[in-house]
Amino acid sequence: MAKAVETKNNRENEDNMIDLDALTVKDLKSYAAEKNIDLPSKARKKDIIKLIKENEGTESETPSANSDADHEEYDDEKELIEAFEELEYEEELEDGEDFEDVFIDEDESDVEDNKAVSIKDSSINSLDECIKAVKALPGVGEATLNKLIKAGFNSLEAIAYTPPKIIQEDSGLGEKSTAKLIKASMDKLGIGFKSGEEIWEHRKNIARVTTNNKEFDDLLGGGIETGSVTEFFGEFRTGKTQIMHQLCVNVQLPKEQGGLEGNALYIDTEGTFRPERIIQMAEALDLDYKKILKNIIFGRAYNSDHQILLVKDSANLIKEKNIKLIIVDSLIGHFRSEYVGRGTLASRQQLINQHIHDLLRLCDIHSDLAVVVTNQVSSKPDVFYGNPTTHTGGHVVAHGTTIRIFLRKGKGEQRIAKVVDAPNLPESEAVFTITEGGIGEP
Ligand SMILES: Nc1ncnc2c1ncn2[C@@H]1O[C@H](COP(=O)(O)OP(=O)(O)OP(=O)(O)O)[C@@H](O)[C@H]1O
Ligand SMILES: [Mg+2]
Repeated sequence: MAKAVETKNNRENEDNMIDLDALTVKDLKSYAAEKNIDLPSKARKKDIIKLIKENEGTESETPSANSDADHEEYDDEKELIEAFEELEYEEELEDGEDFEDVFIDEDESDVEDNKAVSIKDSSINSLDECIKAVKALPGVGEATLNKLIKAGFNSLEAIAYTPPKIIQEDSGLGEKSTAKLIKASMDKLGIGFKSGEEIWEHRKNIARVTTNNKEFDDLLGGGIETGSVTEFFGEFRTGKTQIMHQLCVNVQLPKEQGGLEGNALYIDTEGTFRPERIIQMAEALDLDYKKILKNIIFGRAYNSDHQILLVKDSANLIKEKNIKLIIVDSLIGHFRSEYVGRGTLASRQQLINQHIHDLLRLCDIHSDLAVVVTNQVSSKPDVFYGNPTTHTGGHVVAHGTTIRIFLRKGKGEQRIAKVVDAPNLPESEAVFTITEGGIGEP
């Protein structure tokens, strides 16, 4: 009886109050500003609501979240909605904010050990070691080191494999110092001619991420390989985005289950990343979806310049966040829509070329990283792209990526994958399915 009255009073109170949960993060921020409530710069929705409630002394009126088991489901759902809203909020963030500030979930305090891998200290140590090696190069003082790190050149490999012009432009260092740094990095890494045996040793260390389909994995020589850029191309709804989602989950699996025990970085150019699908796929593999979602770093690219920038910025995150998979879905959509007409074709192709080389360089620098991109093609030959199976996005994409897989629709949920001009794989086909649980066997 007493409880019923209390609940009724609460409800009356709440009727007079604004429903904070229903407000967007932007509105909550304005509301807090009106009430002169100071918010930390990276406050999330739930933190803002908490601060407002604390300020208004209404915190205790919030019903206890876990008073009985029935609430558990509600909690999960609420958290999910919050997670989605955070994603939307990230999309709303204003220009000029730092990529790391925007897209990186800094709250790793409650990351526990699980089948899915959490950010490892060892990767942070190895980043320190890489930076130490750069610092030890002749002529590198604090100022030069800072410029290099800020521009993403935080390892000997990053310096040695990048064309001097790009290092100069991105870091602001002069021509002579750049040339010296590259030479010194190459000397330290022993870059030069190698024997076939050495290359074989290197190839033997290539790791692979499973696609969840045996035939598909076999087609790829065991799965998506590290150290290469793999391109999936095909018409709309052939499963490109679904495969990208599945790989984000699978890369987190232990090695013996076809994963790389690493995290994923997803660059979404079309706004088609869906956490709901990740949850379904994680649950189908009996994984904790919250951890799987946490280990996917998401960046929405709004235009081709932004996309190029996100890839450049990712250089600084790979070691720090134990990233083993970078996805760009889709690679040339923005370029295609922004550069319309034959007059701009040359500059478009040049930009795409540079962008692909940025991605290829990431694979050179990090041999344990897999880069996967998608590319939508029309089945009808068109003036820009020619025959889709040979000239997707022009010659640049075909020659820049190392493994290309053509997807087409089969019956119902079936899809067919075919490897096209890979240096070491036969041109054969595999049939896979797309179901609620993700990519599977027919
Ligand atoms: N929850 C689900 N359960 C079963 N199948 C699904 C589910 N979600 C998506 N699909 C399948 O995936 C297909 C869409 O595939 P996907 O989004 O990967 O296409 P795409 O190749 O990325 O297309 P586009 O070029 O338009 O981006 C749908 O047509 C549907 O068959
Ligand atoms: Mg897609």
